[in-house]
Amino acid sequence: MLERISIPNVMQETSRKFILKAKKIGFVPTMGALHNGHISLVERAKNENDITVVSIFVNPLQFGQDEDFDKYPRVLEKDLEMLESVGTNILFVPQVKHMYPEGFLTTVKVRELSDKLCGAFRKGHFEGVTTVVCKLINIVKPTRIYFGQKDYQQMLIVKQMVNDLNIDVEVVSCRTIRESDGLAMSSRNVYLNHAERKSATILYKTLKHIESLILQDKISCRDVSKIMYKMLSDEPLVKEIQYADIYDVKTLERLDEFKDENLLAIALKIGDTRLIDNLIVERKK
Ligand code: PAF
Repeated sequence: MLERISIPNVMQETSRKFILKAKKIGFVPTMGALHNGHISLVERAKNENDITVVSIFVNPLQFGQDEDFDKYPRVLEKDLEMLESVGTNILFVPQVKHMYPEGFLTTVKVRELSDKLCGAFRKGHFEGVTTVVCKLINIVKPTRIYFGQKDYQQMLIVKQMVNDLNIDVEVVSCRTIRESDGLAMSSRNVYLNHAERKSATILYKTLKHIESLILQDKISCRDVSKIMYKMLSDEPLVKEIQYADIYDVKTLERLDEFKDENLLAIALKIGDTRLIDNLIVERKK
């Protein structure tokens, strides 16, 4: 049976009891509108721990003023069914007034990493993410916390925070789950109309094309971005390319020369919908 908890103190007390019994807690933080990508994280958490906790909280702190906080999909009943079907133990669904009561003053910011890639286009976004993830970790007290690689920068920033602040949790990064045509699963895909949904496959196509050029030694590192931009801008419904380039997997600096591991990453808009995707390309030594 899925237990639903909405008050932070109650969640904390529940976790404390599990910990006293030496139970390992696996935690998947989400904003709801769950899809198979989330479910794969829940399944992994279940396999690796005694208790699985999922949170659903659309975190106002990580949305900019002109972003989609109000229209972000909220489908709690459907989410509950999905979580129940995979045997989640606890759903933590706090309210904004309990997470950010009047007088709330503290935020957590990971410098540098938070200002690159998506951070350059979404001011304050990652500070909102690290603040809420830090709070959720303190409330849920997990042994392991699970993130999808689709939000690679988010995962890297959370790892840095956990390391810098000596937070006692293992951050587990899980592979991106894709639709059959390659589109990375995302709660925001529901915003796409039929034509936009078709053209959204251009992100993964571009990543895979560049990967094959790199693996066959048919492209120089300096040409990667140019060719990505060309492929993406040839797709008529792509409205704005925010970034499309090759980066260091740890520092997120742009690369001038290939390394053993390289991050290809894209952010763009199709219609009003912002989509991101990435791929790690490993070169043989
Ligand atoms: O990836 C998300 O859904 C959110 O950024 C997270 C990690 C749940 C924090 O609000």
